[in-house]
Amino acid sequence: MFQFGKLFEPGRIGTLELKNRIIFPPMATHMATLEGDVTDQLVNYYIERARGVGLVVIEGSFPSPVGHPKRIALDHDGRLAGLQRLVRALHQEGAKVMIEVNTHMGRQDQNPLSPSDLPHPITGKRGKPVDAADIERMLKEYGDAAKRVKKAGFDGIMIHGGTGYLVAEFLSPLVNKRTDEYGGDVRRRARFALDVIDVTRKSVGAGYPVVFRLMAHDRVPGGFDTDDAIVTCKLFQDHGVDAVDIITGSAVSHEWTAPYMYLPAGCNTDVSGAVRKEVSMPIAVAGKINDPVLAEQILREGMTDFVDIGRGLLADPNFVVKTIEGKAGKIRKCLACLRCAEQYLFSRDPVVCAVNPAVGKEKEYASALKGAVKRKKVLVVGGGPAGMEAAILADRRGHDVMLWERSDRLGGNLNLAPVPSGKSDMKSFLDYLNKELQESGVKVTLRKKASPGQLTDAAPDAVVLATGSRPFVVDIPGMGRENVVGFSEVLSGEKDFRDEKIVVWGAGFVGCEVAYFLAEKGNDVTLIFPESEPAPEVAYPDNRKILLRKLEENRVRIEVGIKEFKEIRSGGIALVDKEGKDVFFEADHIVLATGARPLNEFTPAEKQGISELYEAGDCVEVRRLLEAVREGAEAALKL
Ligand SMILES: Cc1cc2nc3c(=O)[nH]c(=O)nc-3n(C[C@H](O)[C@H](O)[C@H](O)COP(=O)(O)OP(=O)(O)OC[C@H]3O[C@@H](n4cnc5c(N)ncnc54)[C@H](O)[C@@H]3O)c2cc1C
Ligand SMILES: Cc1cc2nc3c(=O)[nH]c(=O)nc-3n(C[C@H](O)[C@H](O)[C@H](O)COP(=O)(O)O)c2cc1C
Repeated sequence: MFQFGKLFEPGRIGTLELKNRIIFPPMATHMATLEGDVTDQLVNYYIERARGVGLVVIEGSFPSPVGHPKRIALDHDGRLAGLQRLVRALHQEGAKVMIEVNTHMGRQDQNPLSPSDLPHPITGKRGKPVDAADIERMLKEYGDAAKRVKKAGFDGIMIHGGTGYLVAEFLSPLVNKRTDEYGGDVRRRARFALDVIDVTRKSVGAGYPVVFRLMAHDRVPGGFDTDDAIVTCKLFQDHGVDAVDIITGSAVSHEWTAPYMYLPAGCNTDVSGAVRKEVSMPIAVAGKINDPVLAEQILREGMTDFVDIGRGLLADPNFVVKTIEGKAGKIRKCLACLRCAEQYLFSRDPVVCAVNPAVGKEKEYASALKGAVKRKKVLVVGGGPAGMEAAILADRRGHDVMLWERSDRLGGNLNLAPVPSGKSDMKSFLDYLNKELQESGVKVTLRKKASPGQLTDAAPDAVVLATGSRPFVVDIPGMGRENVVGFSEVLSGEKDFRDEKIVVWGAGFVGCEVAYFLAEKGNDVTLIFPESEPAPEVAYPDNRKILLRKLEENRVRIEVGIKEFKEIRSGGIALVDKEGKDVFFEADHIVLATGARPLNEFTPAEKQGISELYEAGDCVEVRRLLEAVREGAEAALKL
């Protein structure tokens, strides 16, 4: 019997009939032109993700392009042709299409506005308190944008009331301290949202589907909570909203807005389930619903009427098709690693995904995967994620592929990355790669090391080197002692420490995760490092914030700014601390996490002797999963 009956049951939002319960929620792509027009890249990206989905909601767009480069703008009718092309393309895929419209980004905007004069908890920026003229101007622009949404042929409109932007800031008691009619109790704080709803309804007319995306919980004490969400949703319903899409998290709890690995799957269903009991309109919910089994379960349990699958469809645009075809076990799952959000935050380049290198290059990948012009004999050296991805795609393109891995299992560092608690999502990608390899024609040989001089032994036409990295060790006296171990021995389980005193040397993200892992096992852990901050290279602030919180919760001592590491002795490590004082840290074991260097033992002469050679992943430069997978894939596409 088909196990996903509820997920594929038709549903309805106002007058709009949807073929199933799956929504691709709004996710900014930075694929529009600088001025805010639709591009071919954007259309191809959405076509890929519309397959099998009931409703696609196009990313947050703006009534004005000012301050929002590469985001869709709705400021004049000249934009309509591009938008109509997008809608037509998605209709052809059988999906219904809405678009999300933002009013203003609040304190995160180029011209910051805010309900009250309070600093943003992350940026410290204050917004000008919104006055009556601001409201009048925003509502006028919003109403005009809503009219264009309808003219462009969208099946409905979604109002952005989330992510700590202006509408959500008005709703939250943490940000809205006004004493006029827009502030006070939950009903008064909802007034700005209701104004936006009313102007939208006036612009699009009766019967046109209007969905409100609601930041339904601040996730901190004293913030907007589930009770507030229930009152607010009842008001929305009275004002003609057809459905509410539940998300949580705001500036104070940003880690909930696109939940990281440490938060549980389906993490917002507590709120959506409670709201759904109290209102008659349909409810949708987002938040790590990255598995069809979970999606089906929360629908059956009455936690929601629709499920948003955002990053899940970024990672695998065939998520829905695979589910329909009974191949749910083959879905390439989102890891919730937030490389997508990191890219969005720090650059205007198109969105990326650590496990799906084809994001934003849908056409190029589809065409390359039709097959190679000439079948080649390809040797891939190294069975980490870079080598595995290269081998899988080279095989899919019709090449004759061998993969040599020197250890007794595939996966490289992807075997270690999921070990610290909260990171188990990463394991799903290794499972995916293993399955794909098993079903491919790739000839995998384990315990086979390619040594210098051996690259041409099997007479390959092309070689992909993906040999990864080796630990970097600072050579100080005592380094060879028995009480010194590498982080990989700890994470692999080769060494199992419990209730001991441990110094972890090195506080990049690996050192921090190892310290957390050891502390959770009851060890007394001290983290030592020369820098002034732990995990400096963890770029995405939410990930760093959670990692540091875990260290604190597990009482890991952090010793910053170590000036010199002098000697490892039997009972600990001697060093010069940040004050320049000689100190000795007692420890039963010293765990090294002092970084890594590329492992690439082949000489330039040997590499030059191979007519077609590519290098991918950490063997080029030690980085992260995204780069390994992307470079492995790109090598395969060039073959
Ligand atoms: C503890 C830990 C946590 C991490 N967490 C994250 C994270 O959260 N997010 C993220 O993006 N990245 C993370 N990373 C980084 C990520 O795992 C690596 O960037 C990625 O694994 C690199 O892939 P690769 O294939 O280039 O190299 P590797 O994974 O190192 O694989 C290389 C493979 O080549 C094999 N090999 C080497 N030499 C030879 C040879 N001569 N012949 C045959 N085989 C050979 C090795 O045995 C190995 O299996 C983490 C890394 C570690 C160690
Ligand atoms: C890169 C990125 C961009 C996003 N852009 C938007 C957006 O434009 N509007 C919005 O309401 N939510 C946006 N979100 C939030 C998602 O719609 C979604 O609520 C969130 O990712 C949780 O769902 P998921 O776990 O299925 O990805 C974005 C999230 C990410 C990771």
